[in-house]
Amino acid sequence: MTGQPDPEVGFVGINEKLAELEERRNRVRQGGGPERVEKQKKAGKMTARERLAMLLDPGTFVELDQFVEHRCTDFGMADTKAPGEGVVTGYGSVEGRSVCVAAQDFTVIGGSLGEMHAMKIAKCLDLAKKMGVPFISLNDSGGARIQEGVDSLKGYGEIFYRNSIYSGVIPQISVILGPCAGGAVYSPALTDFTFMVEGTSNMFITGPQVIKAVTGEDVTPVELGGATVHNRLSGVAQFWAADETQCFGMVRKLLGYLPSNNLEDPPVVATDDDPNRVDERIRDIVPVDPNKPYDMRDLINAVVDVGSFFEVHQYYAENIVVGFARMNGRTVGIVGSQPKVKAGCLDIDASDKACRFVRFCDCFNVPLLTFSDVPGYLPGVSQEHGGIIRHGAKLLYAYSEASVPKVSLIVRKAYGGAYIAMCSRHLGADLVYALPTAEIAVMGPEGAANIIFRDEIASAADQKEMRSRKIQEFRDKFANPYVAAARGYVDDVIDPRDIRPRLISALELCKTKAEARPAKKHGNLPM
Ligand code: HXC
Repeated sequence: MTGQPDPEVGFVGINEKLAELEERRNRVRQGGGPERVEKQKKAGKMTARERLAMLLDPGTFVELDQFVEHRCTDFGMADTKAPGEGVVTGYGSVEGRSVCVAAQDFTVIGGSLGEMHAMKIAKCLDLAKKMGVPFISLNDSGGARIQEGVDSLKGYGEIFYRNSIYSGVIPQISVILGPCAGGAVYSPALTDFTFMVEGTSNMFITGPQVIKAVTGEDVTPVELGGATVHNRLSGVAQFWAADETQCFGMVRKLLGYLPSNNLEDPPVVATDDDPNRVDERIRDIVPVDPNKPYDMRDLINAVVDVGSFFEVHQYYAENIVVGFARMNGRTVGIVGSQPKVKAGCLDIDASDKACRFVRFCDCFNVPLLTFSDVPGYLPGVSQEHGGIIRHGAKLLYAYSEASVPKVSLIVRKAYGGAYIAMCSRHLGADLVYALPTAEIAVMGPEGAANIIFRDEIASAADQKEMRSRKIQEFRDKFANPYVAAARGYVDDVIDPRDIRPRLISALELCKTKAEARPAKKHGNLPM
């Protein structure tokens, strides 16, 4: 205690009380002390408070629960001080909009999560939900605080519970900036987006030592669960950053596309890009030859407000592209086939990736724009045995369930079940456009001719010539947008240079869309 009672009045004066407050605050601000802060820096990591300063608008962070202390007395914990309980919580703003934040402090008992550490995070989540603002968690922790045993597990459970029941109510973002091991990984997995930083962050359920003991495999933490692994291979993370500075810039950018909660619309941003811009160059982006690849991102970038496309899950399942963009200043969620990877076909990973994104957009009132150029589902034993049936069903389910505006553009191929899956009219698309290059058919001309003209081809004197003739016959009849347009499955066939104005006008019309769904507790998404 700093202040001594004034002998004349018998109370500690206000100046002394303020000095004590400042002293207590300072102790907490030191975190684990200079040595551990130094170690944190040497590991290439910022402190929890530096991170919050970089994430939030300058000077807006308000810290809460600074004086929370643990209650553990086992294993020497009675004498162990844990300033701030190893996690800094509070609120601040990003581009002027409120967010709630929790940043684990690795310098305090390795950022390990005990009962009161968890209580701070849970309280912060409750605050975010009550106020209807996004929650951002900065993770850097050795996991459950071993000394606190089952109380740590209870703490995790309470966080998972809130992550789950607030899902679809407020956007939840996890940023992994150090270790995130054991059951701790399930909070990020339950949130909407996970960011990882190359070299310093890792996530795994069982670490290298346990793996070595159980399976004999040798692996480093980064090889096992580093940023590249989870962005490219597992799909656990949606965003990769080279360093923490870049990472916080990306989190701030993402928030700019999102509403604060499920009852709001996303923010509208002023743009100089003319909504009626007619772009001649777009005609050259999509090759007329259906077998020639191109980058769907070129088409997306040419259509959306200039520079506004922000890709999500960029390195995972690259045969489909998903991300946020703006059309005339309004946020849209874009799903596009990617013809330059696996010809843009749908497979297990692409279905999972697109499903998750579509559901996020539907939760948070983000209209969906779908660009399809899809030759079908990827054939293969591994796909079938891996469960493409149940994984592929997710995308059908997600698009059908989504009641946000759904506008689709069939760019080129739209074959078979994949045509249906890519937000066709039949799954509730509100407006469907096709380019003249579109081929909407039950399957590609080659495959179709081989099946329905099999006998004719087999009995022909020149089988090769007959096959080519039959392929052409099928192509002439079905490989175009007009059969679908004749049935009203496509609302119009448009010139590529008019895509932007037509899509913006469609989205404008959809602004007042109201579509009720049958009352139910919740559906049963295929898994
Ligand atoms: C208590 C911990 C801790 C933990 C680290 N520390 N993790 N204390 N509980 N889980 C302490 C260390 O003892 C050390 O204290 C300080 O934090 C810094 O840790 P270091 O080991 O020096 O740091 P580093 O070398 O960078 O290694 C980081 C690490 C390692 C890889 C995370 O600390 C580690 O393996 N920790 C244990 C990981 C683990 O098994 N967690 C439990 C998982 S089970 P001093 O005083 O020396 O500075 C789990 C179940 C959750 O999480 C289930 C939820 C459903």
